Amino acid sequence: MCGIVGYIGLPEKSAEHHALDVLMEGLRRLEYRGYDSAGVATVAGGAVESRKKSGKLANLVAEIEQQPLTPASLGIGHTRWATHGGPTDLNAHPHFGDDNKLAVIHNGIIENFAQLRQRLSAAGHVFDSQTDTEVAAKLIGEAFQATGDLTEAMRQAVNELEGAFTLLAVHPDQPDRVVAARRNSPLVVGLGEGENFLGSDVSGFIDFTREAVELEQDQIVTITAGDVSIINFDGSAAAGKRFYIDWDATAAEKSGYDSFMEKEINEQPKAVEDTLLGRTDAAGRLTLDELRISPEQLKDTTKIIVLACGTAAYAGTVAKYAIEHWTRIPVEVELAHEFRYRDPIIDETTLVVSISQSGETMDTLMAVRYAKEQGARTLSICNTNGSTIPRESDAVLYLHAGPEIAVASTKAFLAMIAASYLLGLYLAQLRGQLFSGQISDILADLHKIPAKIQKILDSADEIKALAQAMAQTPSVLFLGRHVGFPVAMEGALKLKELAYIHAEGFAAGELKHGPIALIEEGQPVFVVVPSPRGRDSLHGKVVSNIQEVRARGAKTITVAEEGDDAVREFSENVFFVPETQPLLMPLLTTVPLQIFACALASEKGYDVDQPRNLAKSVTVE
Ligand code: M6R
Repeated sequence: MCGIVGYIGLPEKSAEHHALDVLMEGLRRLEYRGYDSAGVATVAGGAVESRKKSGKLANLVAEIEQQPLTPASLGIGHTRWATHGGPTDLNAHPHFGDDNKLAVIHNGIIENFAQLRQRLSAAGHVFDSQTDTEVAAKLIGEAFQATGDLTEAMRQAVNELEGAFTLLAVHPDQPDRVVAARRNSPLVVGLGEGENFLGSDVSGFIDFTREAVELEQDQIVTITAGDVSIINFDGSAAAGKRFYIDWDATAAEKSGYDSFMEKEINEQPKAVEDTLLGRTDAAGRLTLDELRISPEQLKDTTKIIVLACGTAAYAGTVAKYAIEHWTRIPVEVELAHEFRYRDPIIDETTLVVSISQSGETMDTLMAVRYAKEQGARTLSICNTNGSTIPRESDAVLYLHAGPEIAVASTKAFLAMIAASYLLGLYLAQLRGQLFSGQISDILADLHKIPAKIQKILDSADEIKALAQAMAQTPSVLFLGRHVGFPVAMEGALKLKELAYIHAEGFAAGELKHGPIALIEEGQPVFVVVPSPRGRDSLHGKVVSNIQEVRARGAKTITVAEEGDDAVREFSENVFFVPETQPLLMPLLTTVPLQIFACALASEKGYDVDQPRNLAKSVTVE
């Protein structure tokens, strides 16, 4: 939520990197975090200058073209996802202190803003916007008046704030620095030569450096052109952890696709392959990326609770089916935002598995922290190296799926499912629940999945044609059973998010308990059909469900296994996916639903990368 970027370079560097160019490039890459409005502030010649504009970044670019800024060697930039106050020019960041010189940008929510605003208003401060950010600007401004030191002013102000925030500030009276603070909200530092950077994530400066520093919770960083210094909120000195950014800028480019969404859908064979890559040691045994708990402790797990939100939670439901089947450990899947408000039963034998693409989702982070406080062991499945959730977890399994830029998740979903399988197999290996031969057979089938996804992608035209023909459809239902159920939920979510169409996913067996009332003549229903192979196949039951909806006028579109010719009779359209083990099917059956949603939204002329009202990384509760 909200993209933040900061830059400072030596004045002589400005021929190479004009601060505004660095900021705008960073904002372009961070726009996926929020796109209600955007703004910048630069400092040059002893003055601060700012431009801000509601709407997408393009509006800010046009504004700056009309009213150019003085060349500068430092500045801050912001792209907003509105929380307090609508997406107007006035509410766009930066916000200013009383002297109209201190400029501040912010990501997060200041929870005690109402009390602070009341107090500051009573003391004579005048507010221009409805934002909580302006409260922070007034507080920092007040402290700067008293101390004349931006780092100390930031320190004093943040100690009065409650909630989640990343704050960046510049002041022309200290034109050699950008000061930033973070609590419960992401911030990374990029290290250059004669220049330094700040970003909500590394994409804010990936064009300029690969060397970065992670900050801990409750820290303040002051960057100058030649130095980075970090202190804690209590003023004590601190040091960040250096890391190297191992993906390059081209990974975050569209590479010839019309949208990041299309690119990421097409990257799924590689994303799954990379998730599976290098997971075994010399003895052929599965390993995790980071393990700060003993394998013995993991082995003694009596219960697993999967915590996640949105798409990640649907991946968690697939994880439940697989992990329970392979390990016989009971698994609960819980929406992270519900978890800590229901007094969950946890102890030190509970393994809490969080799943998050960003590793910064506030609801998930808070739930993980709560679980830790209650004594649970925590394991993070995450795509973003060095993000907060894996950093605070006892064990980590990274997805290695590469940056996911489109706001709606696609490749991370498949990678999360693949990583969940690895976790299930790892636990089964620890507990001796599966023979090594069984594990290697499942792994071998998993390694065949990328080529099978590619086969589906290669036949995408038929799905796209159907999506185009259905562009005016007001409502679509999705049905699935067993691991097909979370796939149905994900198919519906993609359609809601991208095409703004009413869509619901149901467990096919639940249909007759209520949702069947929604079926009327012509209602499109997607059905994820299980394989007809195997003794325990649910195929027959799902075919019955199809009959039930068709009898009431539904048009059924099925996603079925190659060779399942029986479904043709019950389908207006059928999309076949290659065969694999039933538990692994979601890695294939999801793909046609993603293609469908993306194509339908594109046909309607919508921006599939930045759907309305959404943000990629939800860093507020
Ligand atoms: O970064 P996370 O995986 O923790 O994000 C969780 C959800 O916010 C995310 O999956 C969301 O539902 C997306 N809009 C799905 O496309």
